Amino acid sequence: MVEASAPGKIILFGEHAVVYGRPAIAVPLSQLRATAVIQPNPQSGVQLIAPDLGMSASLQEAVPDDPLAAAIHQIQRAANIAQWPDMIVTVSSQIPIASGLGSGAAITAAILRALAQYLDLPYLLTDEQISALTYEVEKIHHGTPSGIDNTVVAYERPVYFVRRQPQNLIEPFAVGTLLRLLVADTGVSSSTKLVVGDVRRQWEADPSQFEALFSTCGEIAVAARQAIERGDLPEIGQLMTRNHQVLQTMTVSSLELDRLVQAAQQAGALGAKLSGAGWGGNMIALVTMETETAVRQALLQAGARHVLLTTLI
Ligand code: MEV
Repeated sequence: MVEASAPGKIILFGEHAVVYGRPAIAVPLSQLRATAVIQPNPQSGVQLIAPDLGMSASLQEAVPDDPLAAAIHQIQRAANIAQWPDMIVTVSSQIPIASGLGSGAAITAAILRALAQYLDLPYLLTDEQISALTYEVEKIHHGTPSGIDNTVVAYERPVYFVRRQPQNLIEPFAVGTLLRLLVADTGVSSSTKLVVGDVRRQWEADPSQFEALFSTCGEIAVAARQAIERGDLPEIGQLMTRNHQVLQTMTVSSLELDRLVQAAQQAGALGAKLSGAGWGGNMIALVTMETETAVRQALLQAGARHVLLTTLI
């Protein structure tokens, strides 16, 4: 039996603009993970089981764009596998689906890692390979993903990321001081593909306005990286709040997200913003040890379904 896992992710700065080549910053959410277990199948064939997704099917029965089957097909292509061994692939995930925390990328990365181990394909086990194969699956589900989600779940480190040809810029970087982030769930699920598609339509309708908004996000991400590296918490917080304002102008926020962001600010957070595609999902608030409890309570009172603390160093 083989088991492998991958973390969720949080976009700290630059969502959406990253699709258009501007820099962005993402960090792993290591306490929420997707896990894949592979074991021999006493019966013949490949069986896919994902209790959280309500799925149990053989590989042949699965629709071609099924996320589990898509991951398996990627390995098949990458390693030229003609015949699968009889095996059961079981996937479970603590990462809420459609909530901006990278559940899809994490599930794919966990399956890829487990398969590469089970089939003894060490050359596929590098972070770079896992990220590249996860990206291929992300493309099926999200249309035009920037590549930041697969990168951060595969590398499991804070990354400064720029989408570019022929190769993305991926710079893992150090966090200068402990960052204490509350992650609050609006309880509203949201499809990354739909939100990204809507931003694209708006960009096509008014390219100069949207290029300017993307550039502002990019500038915020550059400044944020410096602030994170030198451990300047007030500056990081202010940049988060500014990034949220730009995302509001892009119309990717929502009443629920704005309510949580405002509640966090009023309760003393250093900064707050939506995280991920928007229209629902999660927001993040930068807090200190002193403000954490008050901000958590304010978020719950303002309607957050769950609030979890994650720290980065
Ligand atoms: C989704 O986690 C982040 C977006 O920027 C989309 C992407 O980068 O592919 C909204």
